[in-house]
Formats: sequence, C-alpha cells, structure tokens
Amino acid sequence: MTVPILAKTPGTPLYVEVAERIAALVEQQTFRPGDRVPSIRSLSRQLQVSINTVKEAYGLLEDRRVIEARPQSGYYVCSRLPELPRDPRIEAREIEPTGVSIAELADRVMRDSERADLVQFGCAIPNPELLPVARIGRMLAQEVRRHAQEHVAYSMPPGCARLRTEIAKRLLVSGCTVRPGEILTTTGCSEAVFLALQALCRPGDTVVVESPVYFNFLQQIQALGLRALEIPATQKEGMSLEALRYALDHNRVRVCLAIPNFHNPLGSCMPEERKRELVALLAERGIPLIEDDIHGDLGFGSERPRAAKAWDRDGNVILCSSFSKTVAPGYRVGWMVPGRYQAQIERLKMVTNIASPAPTQLALAALLANGGYDQHLRRIRRIYARQVAGMAEAIGRHFPAETRVTRPEGGNLLWVEMPEGIDALRLYARAMRHGMTFAPGPLFSAAGRFRNCLRLNAAFWTPELEGTLATLGRLAGEMQGDRAS
Ligand SMILES: Cc1ncc(COP(=O)(O)O)c(C=O)c1O
Repeated sequence: MTVPILAKTPGTPLYVEVAERIAALVEQQTFRPGDRVPSIRSLSRQLQVSINTVKEAYGLLEDRRVIEARPQSGYYVCSRLPELPRDPRIEAREIEPTGVSIAELADRVMRDSERADLVQFGCAIPNPELLPVARIGRMLAQEVRRHAQEHVAYSMPPGCARLRTEIAKRLLVSGCTVRPGEILTTTGCSEAVFLALQALCRPGDTVVVESPVYFNFLQQIQALGLRALEIPATQKEGMSLEALRYALDHNRVRVCLAIPNFHNPLGSCMPEERKRELVALLAERGIPLIEDDIHGDLGFGSERPRAAKAWDRDGNVILCSSFSKTVAPGYRVGWMVPGRYQAQIERLKMVTNIASPAPTQLALAALLANGGYDQHLRRIRRIYARQVAGMAEAIGRHFPAETRVTRPEGGNLLWVEMPEGIDALRLYARAMRHGMTFAPGPLFSAAGRFRNCLRLNAAFWTPELEGTLATLGRLAGEMQGDRAS
C-alpha cells in the first residue's frame, strides 16, 4: 500500500500532517481495523520525510488510539468499538419543555464522589496528579507576597485586571477578539452560567439544552424555577440543529445553554460550520446563547476548536469558562464574556457575592503569563487522549455485547449506552457495593431519558483499574441476564 505524497500546509508541523494523512486513510477504510500500516522506514521513504518525523507522527496516532504498536511486529490500526448512532431520532412529542427534579440523585452522586473508599468513575473532576499543583501553589505564595495590599482587597467586578488581560490574549486562539474590559471574572464556570441564566430568565421561562445535558445545568434550571427543553445531541455533531429549529418553531424559548466543545457527558465537538449555524439561528430568533467552553483547552487534536462565540457579531453569545478542568477546581477561578448583557450581569455579580477571591485570580494570572500553561496543556491532552482511549477499549472488552461508547476528541469523559433494559440506577446501587461509583444516565435528563446509559470519568484511568471496570461490566451483564430469565 503506498501513501500519496504530502502537499505541505504552511504552519502545520510535518509530523502532524503525516499523522493526519494516515488517520484519513484509516477513516476512509483504506486501512481497516487490524491492518498493518507501513513501517516507519518505508513510510519515511514513501513520503520523503525523516524517520523521526514518522516516529512522532506514529506517536501522535498512538495517543489518539488510531494505531497501536505490537512488539516485534509493527504498527496496526486499532480495533473500533461501535460508536453512538450518528443521527438522533427526532420525535415531535419529545420536544417539549419539562420541569426538573433530579436533585436527590445528583446530591447522592456528588456525596459519593467524596468517598475515598470508592473507585471514582463518577464525577467529572480532573486528576490532581495531572494538575500543576506545586507550580500554582508557588505562584499563589509569590503573588500574595508581591501584591500585599491588592490580594486582601475586594477584586471588584469585572475582576482582576491582570487575569482578564491574560484571558483576552488566550481567547484569540479560540477565535474571539475580546478586550480585557469585556471579561468578567467569576467564582468558577458554574457561577458564570448561573449569573447568565439569572440575568436573562424569569421563573417559568424555557431554556434549551442538549440531551443528554450536564446535570448541574439541570439543577440551576430547577433552582431558578425554569423549564428545560432537551434537544437531542450526537457525539459527531453535538446539538441537532434540525431538532432545535423545530423546537424553536413550536415553543417560546428564552435562552439556549450549550457546550459546543467537548460536551459533558457526550464529549462531542460541534463542527465549525454547525457552530456558525447555531449562532446565526439563535441571533435570527433573538435568543441568547450561553456557551460553556470549560473543556475547550482539552482537545486531543493539533488545533484548539474555536468557541461558538467566534461567530458572534452582536454580543448575543455569553461565553463562560474556568480553570477548574486544567489547573485547580478548588481555586474557583472562572470567567465570562457577557456580551451585550455585561452591565446587567456585572451588577448581579456584585449583588450576589461582591467579588471573587483575589489571591487565586492573581495566581492564575501569573501562571498564564509565565507559568508554562501551554506546555502543561499539551501534556495533559496527550495523557487524557491515552486514558480515554484505554478506558473505551476496556469497556469494549468487558461490557455486554452491543454496548456503545463515545469516542471523544477531547476532555476526559465517556458516555456509555448499554443494551436496553439494563437499568443504570440499579447498576449504581450494585456498583457501590463493589466499591465504585459512576454517573447514572438519568442524571443527564429532566425528561427521564438514558436509563440504560452511564457516564464514566477517564481522568483517573490506569490499566490497573481494568479489574474494577470488568466488575462493572460483569454486573451490567448479569442485569441483562436477570431480565432475560
Ligand atoms: C461542562 C461543565 N461546566 C461547568 C463545570 C463546573 O465548573 P466550575 O468548577 O468551574 O464551576 C463542570 C464541572 O464538571 C462542567 O463539566
């Protein structure tokens, strides 16, 4: 098999181009699962690139679980697990707003997430071993010394100027040109989303969300007395715009809340064209978009995906994020670009808690300015890519046949769809007795969907946990058996 010669793209490292060329051949099924790909030496000859370039390209493809090395034998295309279906079935009767009541289940899963005696496959927390713990601690101490007065004072909205300047610089990579003055710092991304919902909605209003939906969004919607309208989403494309259009035609919607990049729990990354369409559709209907981009920096590919905000022309998109997934969830450093709602949201922020803590904002600003944040991101992206793929493959080995699992291109979450009839809530109770937690599917819907689904966090995955995951798969299999007998 010969691989067509490269046409070089300026700005893309050569090894990435080589990797993408091979990945494309796998995607087109020129190389199929189990096929051997060209040896390093022969590909280097065919493409007229160095041996090291091919080695790096194959390293990248291994990280992305496109190929795997077999000792003494060469590189082979990885086996594929069935993916979640591409097109959701859109049924008119499903597109109706619902009241929300998942609080009890969410409380229980959150409480269980603190138990040190359980293997934590549940909450979407980062692995502290992969965070720059020592570095951010040093920077906190240094900034507290350096800004003796400032660090004890209120960091009045819009918040720490140094931090906002650094965030504005980073936003260029997300495709957004934003001045520091347009950014408001918050206490985590959760507060940013909550402020946006509070500022825009009144009790009884309808909020469009993806389905499945990150369960804390449902809790915020419930706390504000709002209704959720769940729009089917797929791993390939995120929220279905066809279903959204239908829903907007048939409902009065106040606001849309979405996670276009590396969705929680699906891991989907909306293609750029779809993001553009989403922003245009909502602008046309006068419906603001609250965008949560908390996982945006955690993509496995060579380019950071742009935020939907990049296509916003008139301040209709409220972009929200934080450093909880990449640096320190306990620091509670979040931020938002409130767009045309800035004055209103800043006022609300001040009424809520006056300001966010100054010391941690200063520490984050220092880390972004000169703490090797990009290098750190490159490292955790590579590790998460490997862990997510390793865990997905282990699910393929141990869960009942016909189980489907997502293949995220970023973040650290996996969404698992087990055969119909396996009840994730009953499985949760059994899994707890065997010393592990996960997030059961019904948490991710106000409309009672996803009973046979679960979300797993791969941030802590190591091959040593395969036995625990195998137990979970076996328990699921036994439940299938229970049903059949
Ligand atoms: C999509 C999403 N948004 C927000 C949050 C919470 O962010 P923070 O800790 O910054 O409030 C999480 C945490 O799991 C999340 O997954």
